[in-house]
This record gives sequence, structure tokens and C-alpha cells, in this order.
Amino acid sequence: MTFTIAIDGPAAAGKGTISKAVAAHYGFGHLDTGLLYRAVGKRMLDGTEPVAAARALVAEDLEVDGLRTPEVAQAASKVATIPEVRAALVDFQRAYARRAGGAVLDGRDIGTVICPEAEAKLFVTASPEVRARRRFDELCGKGVETDYETVLAETRERDHRDATRADAPLRPAEDALLLDTSALDIAAAVAAAIAAVDARR
Ligand code: CDP
Repeated sequence: MTFTIAIDGPAAAGKGTISKAVAAHYGFGHLDTGLLYRAVGKRMLDGTEPVAAARALVAEDLEVDGLRTPEVAQAASKVATIPEVRAALVDFQRAYARRAGGAVLDGRDIGTVICPEAEAKLFVTASPEVRARRRFDELCGKGVETDYETVLAETRERDHRDATRADAPLRPAEDALLLDTSALDIAAAVAAAIAAVDARR
């Protein structure tokens, strides 16, 4: 059985949390595709040319520590504008999407470019202020020293770069269900996502 659930949306909208819960609910695998770009971004910060880093990427690179920092997030969104980097990461994502047993992939272009044929597509959003607050709380929980205004500015900067790039910009697929989580807690957002997927099964 193959079944692909594509979950796209801007930074810190709740994609990761929703994707994990949806994958657990159906017993599917979950791939956070942002980690691919973060791994390449981290390599770039460490001095490797990004296209070469993307072409050399292996699954174990997604397990390394230090991928969730704000610096790596900014580097990820920069390398994500390079068409050759994106092209190098396509096969890995498509193979995962077709894995036996079902797959949830979350990212920016899953429903539009990587898996336009996905059986279920969600576009998860929330206001920039709500997303920045969530990311700020998450970073504080990890002991990262930052402030809300900085996180909000970084969120807006990354949104702008992701939505305006020429190759695979962030946008909802025409047949994606829009899920605004600004006023939803995790349980309500997950329930809404599962209801949307059930409607396609
Ligand atoms: O966790 P968060 O939503 O903050 O970011 P992420 O999903 O880890 O993605 C980091 C960066 O990778 C994004 O800002 C995008 O520029 C890029 N990305 C992308 O271009 N395409 C994807 N499918 C996933 C991430």
C-alpha cells in the first residue's frame, strides 16, 4: 500500500507536530523535508559548497545534532533558493513518498512539486506573530538565548525568501486543504488534519 500525505506551510506553523501525529495515527512513516535543507545549510556554514553538499547527502545526515538552530534555519532557506540543490534532493523525497506502508512528508513544495499526485494535501498556516511566539517558546525551551522581536523578524525574512524564490516557491497546491492553526491548540489542529485525510481515504 502506498499513500502520500503532503503537509506544506510556512515556518513554525505547526507542520512538524501535526505531521508526526498524523503519521502515528495511520502508522505511516514521516519525513521532515526541512531537515534536508537544514543539513545542506549546515554543511554550507561549515564551508562545503551547497550543491556538492546536496548531492552527497545521505539519510544519516538528517540525524546530526545542531540542525534546529536559527542560524541553520536561515542558511537552509538560502540554499533552498538554489535550483541545483533542490534538484539533488528530489529523488530522495519521491522515493520516501512511495514507501510501502504510507508516508507523510512535510515541507514547502511537497503538494506542488515533489508529490503533486499525493492522495491528501494540507497547507498549514498561522499568523506570523503566532508562529514567531511558538518558535520563540520552543527556542527558550531549548535554552537558546533570543528575544521575540528577533524571532519574528527572522520568521518574516524566511517567509519572504521562501515565497518569492523562482524555483518551487512556498504556495498552497490548488487541491490542498487550508488549515489555519492560529486559534487552534495541538489536539484541535491534529483532529482537523486527520478529518481532512480521512475524507480522502
Ligand atoms: O521548521 P521550520 O518550519 O522553521 O523550517 P523547516 O521546515 O525545517 O525548513 C527550513 C527551510 O528549508 C525553509 O525555510 C525552506 O527555505 C527550506 N525548505 C524548502 O525549501 N522546501 C522544503 N520542502 C522544506 C524546507
